[in-house]
Amino acid sequence: MSKISRRNFLKSSGAAAAIPLMGAAGNVLAKEKDPLPNTGMNLDYPQTTITNSSQLPVNKAVSFNYPDNKSPCVLLRMGHPVSGGVGPDSDIVAYSILCNHMGCPLKYDSTSRTFKCGCHFSIFDSEKTGKMVTGQATENLPRILLSYDKVSGDIRAIGVDGLIFGRQANVL
Ligand code: FES
Repeated sequence: MSKISRRNFLKSSGAAAAIPLMGAAGNVLAKEKDPLPNTGMNLDYPQTTITNSSQLPVNKAVSFNYPDNKSPCVLLRMGHPVSGGVGPDSDIVAYSILCNHMGCPLKYDSTSRTFKCGCHFSIFDSEKTGKMVTGQATENLPRILLSYDKVSGDIRAIGVDGLIFGRQANVL
């Protein structure tokens, strides 16, 4: 087997010619690190006061609309800390109640603490960030992001985690 020198290998493989291309690619990568222009993907969610935490009953759905009047949602105080919960006891959560399968309105079942869809029987867990339990839906329930004002006790909606059914963007 003949030995090939490093110089001859570079010549025959074209690697030497590739070096300037790699340099050009490096410049492209350097440009990609620059701040990106605003592409409109960062949605401008309204900040909406829903209620005061002191007025929320335990395990009873309180209806509201967010981020606009065509998007029905429900606020819940679970009575014990849950994942994603806010408020003095980290137990307040909120969800869109449009089923993400075909948009039927969900009903809250206070016994199982789940949202149930009467159209094709999807079920979502209110205590596990809207996780889909069973049914035709393929995603978890869109969760309304909340903030809690420690001074006033107000609960505000500030965003949505997940895409509300029937929308290309949550904020129209
Ligand atoms: S619309 Fe809810 S499961 Fe089909």
